[in-house]
Amino acid sequence: MAKLNLENKWILITGASGGLGKSIARYLAQNEKANLVLSARRIEQLQQLKEEIETSSNSKVLYIQTDLSKRDDVEKLFHEAVKIADIDAIINNAGITYYGLTDINHFETFETIIDVNMKALMWLTLRFLEYFKEKGNGAILNITSEAGLIPTPYQTVYSASKHAAQVFTEAIRAENRKSGVIISSFAPGGIATEMLTKSGLDKKHGMDSPFNMNPDVVARLAVKSFKKKKFISVPGFLNKLTVCVARFLPRRFIAFSSERVYRPL
Ligand SMILES: NC(=O)c1ccc[n+]([C@@H]2O[C@H](COP(=O)([O-])OP(=O)(O)OC[C@H]3O[C@@H](n4cnc5c(N)ncnc54)[C@H](OP(=O)(O)O)[C@@H]3O)[C@@H](O)[C@H]2O)c1
Repeated sequence: MAKLNLENKWILITGASGGLGKSIARYLAQNEKANLVLSARRIEQLQQLKEEIETSSNSKVLYIQTDLSKRDDVEKLFHEAVKIADIDAIINNAGITYYGLTDINHFETFETIIDVNMKALMWLTLRFLEYFKEKGNGAILNITSEAGLIPTPYQTVYSASKHAAQVFTEAIRAENRKSGVIISSFAPGGIATEMLTKSGLDKKHGMDSPFNMNPDVVARLAVKSFKKKKFISVPGFLNKLTVCVARFLPRRFIAFSSERVYRPL
């Protein structure tokens, strides 16, 4: 199978204001010579990243401020993106978590997690799929998580949202395998990003813990697997091993072991 060529292609990246999305944006510009449409809520970060990338590479960078928890914004993102650039690929990277005991008092937060991690990702996947089919080509990369492959206590709704995103992506790829549109998923384990400090997960597994990979390394592996049109890719030996071993163990054992790994201090 020929590899995806991303040179001079326009790629929309959600959640590009920080963490993995920012690292993917830098990698795509510097190593793949791709042009980028960046999106997130924090516009100053997007402006700064645009300036940084345009000074350090020949890539063109545009950005759109979007709140993916708002349905109108999600639709606006699609329409604005295809108006300002000839989009060839989208990376659905934006994601949020909540770390702690799952109780009813946090249900509003859980709804936002579902809106961003599931609904926005699914809507953008389907909308761009239709757009790319009309165009005759295109590619979609959905960033899921190891937490979508393994039940993750104390991040239950996040884990469920990522599981939904994972199986949705796999099933959509199967439905569209002859469409000419590439649909891939990438399921990282821990990454040392703001997600850990914002959620408090860093108190359990510090940023420098072997559980957490460097975002620049993960970004390189994400782009590499996307170019290879991988059905699903899990970065890092430890994560690959965990996911592989988990397949053969009783689900109850996996969930209980995972509870011990993530139990708050
Ligand atoms: N970090 C990990 O350990 C880990 C592990 C496995 C998978 N992942 C996945 O990797 C992806 C990137 O995560 P990360 O670690 O880079 O997280 P991060 O550092 O917290 O960055 C999340 C990005 O998503 C954006 N975002 C959050 N809420 C948004 C909203 N309502 N509307 C639009 N954009 C929003 C943020 O931008 P604004 O705040 O500016 O909107 C930011 O750019 C996520 O899908 C995550 O689930 C992360």
